[in-house]
Amino acid sequence: MDQKSAINELKALSTQIHTYQSIQTLLHWDAETYMPEGGISPRSEQLATLASLIHELKTSKKFEQNLKKLIHLNTGKPTALGKKLSSPEKVMVREWRKEFLKVTKLPGDFVKTFSHLTSEASQVWRLAKKEDNFQSFAPYLEKIIHLSRKKAEILGFKNHPYDALLEGYEPCMTEAKVAVFFSKLKKAILPLVKEIQKKKTIDDTFLQKTIDHDTQMEIGHLLFSKLPLDPKHSRLDLSSHPFSLALHPLDSRITTRLIPNAFISNIFSILHEAGHSLYETGLPLEYFGTPLCEAVSLTIHESQSRFWETFIGRSKSFWKYFYPLLQKKIPHLTKVPLNHFYQAIHRVTPSFIRVEADEVTYCLHVILRFEIERELIAGTLSVNNLPDAWNDKMKELFGITPPNHSMGCLQDIHWSLGDFGYFPTYALGNMAAAQIFQAMKKQFKDWEDRISSGDLAFLRTWLKENIHSLGKTYSTENLIKRVTGSVLSEKAYVDYLKEKYK
Ligand code: CO
Repeated sequence: MDQKSAINELKALSTQIHTYQSIQTLLHWDAETYMPEGGISPRSEQLATLASLIHELKTSKKFEQNLKKLIHLNTGKPTALGKKLSSPEKVMVREWRKEFLKVTKLPGDFVKTFSHLTSEASQVWRLAKKEDNFQSFAPYLEKIIHLSRKKAEILGFKNHPYDALLEGYEPCMTEAKVAVFFSKLKKAILPLVKEIQKKKTIDDTFLQKTIDHDTQMEIGHLLFSKLPLDPKHSRLDLSSHPFSLALHPLDSRITTRLIPNAFISNIFSILHEAGHSLYETGLPLEYFGTPLCEAVSLTIHESQSRFWETFIGRSKSFWKYFYPLLQKKIPHLTKVPLNHFYQAIHRVTPSFIRVEADEVTYCLHVILRFEIERELIAGTLSVNNLPDAWNDKMKELFGITPPNHSMGCLQDIHWSLGDFGYFPTYALGNMAAAQIFQAMKKQFKDWEDRISSGDLAFLRTWLKENIHSLGKTYSTENLIKRVTGSVLSEKAYVDYLKEKYK
């Protein structure tokens, strides 16, 4: 037995796991797009079967035995055989060990209970949101929080139970580190919002004119075709919430949603999801089935979507290129000059819903969620007091109070799915995107000319080379340092907002 046969066994198992996962992804995509409503119960059965097959493989003796030949499970140090591996293989083994320790820590029964609870809870949440009935969702949320705390205990943490949950989405972060970033962001953004609100508001009623379904879909496909996505490997569909799912670097799907009197939301959704898709299709194909063909973290994933949605999609250069094309589809825009349009899409107004927020107040929504989440998990805030705590924080950060719970603490699906610790990555992704954008500008002095002439491919090439093609080779922190020359920080994002809005 040498290191070759151990690594090959692991690669084969891991490829099998990834293949099952891509089937899972396809089933999820279908459930959100074309599946008839009545298909939900057989679909849950299919997904549960795949989940247990994946769990079996990930925790199998065969996996463990081969892994142990190459790395010491308790210390993470390579064995004598492990030292003989190539550098990409060393990365694989390092990541496989992390994943193995994580999945074997959580008992199978616990995982099953959690998954049953959250699949029921997300159904209850949907109805509760629709009927504005917090009380019907509260007992489920209480159970989810209880189990999430238990999960944190099983996974282990040093300072705050939230650390253990956060680690699942962003391994580089802790509650304390996030708290420092967020207090700096708050300090910069709150006065900026006040200052912007003093300025005269611009007429943006032309953004609220009803645009029919077919025209919006045409605009969607037009934009999709202009982005540097390969139509042979990606597609655009409709769903109730926009998302991006990748089965494989050769097969990635994104969706958009159409709001009749807010056509701009369609455009920004596509730009956002395309950013995710470009990441997934830019992962190195030759490593499919291994961690080298996986995204680093949710922070980096979100940095890619925000890069396209915000930093490119809200740039003047992009609109110099895309506005004339849009005007051809929406005739009433021919009366609105580019400058006016550009200012209108940058209007800042405190709002209740995170997903519809402007780019200045966006992070405040994430901060609100983080401040509440960590208290729920620590047990210093009870579910009963959640609606009041939510409304108090809305008042403190935005100066407004939601008219109902559907627009308040019931607005997002994440808690019903047990995704505690997920939200901070939205803001961290913004911070990283701002740093990446800065680095791009340094590299390409003519970036504005290129984009306004419709050349977006150079951005894809650059991102692919510096981020996508590296898979999980570097941690979030090291990757950001490598691409931008500095550590993850809120500074670039704050500078960007100040420069743009002052
Ligand atoms: Co996203």
